[in-house]
Amino acid sequence: MAQADLLITNASQLLTLAGGPQRGDQLGSLSVIEEGAVAIAGSGIIEVGASGDLSQRYKPERIIDASGRVVLPGFVDPHTHLIWAGDRAAEFEMRLSGMSYMQIMAAGGGIRATVHATRKTSLEDLKAQARPRMRMMLAHGTTTAETKTGYGLQTETELRMLRAIMQLDDEGPLELAPTFLGAHAIPPEYDGKEDDYVTLLCDEMLPEVKMQWKSIGGDRDLPFVDVFCEEGAFSLEQTRRILESALALGFPLKIHADEFKGLGGTGLAVELGAASADHLVHTPKQDILALGRSNTVAVALPCTPFGLAETSYTPAAAFLEAGAVLALASDLNPGTAWCESMQFVLALACRYMHLTPAQAIAAATINAAAAIRREDRIGSLEPGKQADLIILSVADYRHLGYRFGGNLVDTVIKRGEIAIEGGQETWTSRRSKS
Ligand code: NIG
Ligand code: FE
Repeated sequence: MAQADLLITNASQLLTLAGGPQRGDQLGSLSVIEEGAVAIAGSGIIEVGASGDLSQRYKPERIIDASGRVVLPGFVDPHTHLIWAGDRAAEFEMRLSGMSYMQIMAAGGGIRATVHATRKTSLEDLKAQARPRMRMMLAHGTTTAETKTGYGLQTETELRMLRAIMQLDDEGPLELAPTFLGAHAIPPEYDGKEDDYVTLLCDEMLPEVKMQWKSIGGDRDLPFVDVFCEEGAFSLEQTRRILESALALGFPLKIHADEFKGLGGTGLAVELGAASADHLVHTPKQDILALGRSNTVAVALPCTPFGLAETSYTPAAAFLEAGAVLALASDLNPGTAWCESMQFVLALACRYMHLTPAQAIAAATINAAAAIRREDRIGSLEPGKQADLIILSVADYRHLGYRFGGNLVDTVIKRGEIAIEGGQETWTSRRSKS
């Protein structure tokens, strides 16, 4: 029998989320083992089961007694804009006095303000500004996050952002999945000639990302390519041009769709086989139905309407009725949703999308892993999977969703290593170790 390096025993509830992504009304099947245990060897899980059995079989040096505490997979946050420079606190005040997000953007603020700051910021400084956010995410139980470029909107800065993402992923322990979002906004120098920027994206930026990928990402898969399909950003036609070019180059796809207006972006994402369609607040009925029949994951971002003090959220019931794989993400970004905590995302999803805690947990673990196409490696506690898990300070999983504003995560284990214990960081960067 295999030797374990670490055994977690006596969990009041061990949520395995076994069985793969959860579609439609199957959402919320946690596969709970009471008095559960997990045996870990190296960076992977070797066995999951009853504490009595596993304690007999494995006698590792390190045992964590999780009595009275819930153990579950680390959260996967499948939509973030983690890398940026500066902040937009002044804009928040403008919004409070009545200006809308898209009005501020049209006036040169919003995404463009962050682009202005990011273009002037070095690679080292971009990483330095992102690290405290990564630590906060990890401390709140996120063990993997998707992360986008999109504050460069010119080849050089977009590539710098991609490098920052991959170098931070190397540092760990938070694992990052990269997305190229050169189509986040029209850069100011292309005002009045928006289609020329689309041409630049298709003919220069995407081929350049592909050509340089070996030196940026090593032997990792190509990043996702994403487009903000919205009035005031990229039209449906422009989005199609960009995503079709990306697809032809072999990139996997994502989309920002239906945040403010339903332009048909979700239907396009389904047609092109995108990994996910994200936001989905004002999605036309036929697009909800098409997505429900597809493998494109619906990613809801409840922090965004909350952050903008809006009242419309992703209509989860309609997506679930259509059979969709529904996931949750933070949308962490400096404009609409500076929130590092997936626990807070769950609390909003329960209240405004009417999910149960169990549904929200599945949407933030195994389904979120599917949104970044890593469901074979992360998102559930099963033998052969990466040992990414969290231990809560409470005995009942329903405290997730129910409580908000604090942090219920006590211990975080990433790739079999204890990264946070008793709320304290215990990891050292892989880079500083070598
Ligand atoms: O997903 N909607 C577009 N992009 C981000 C916001 C980025 C920003 O405002 O800086 C989003 O909400
Ligand atoms: Fe976003």
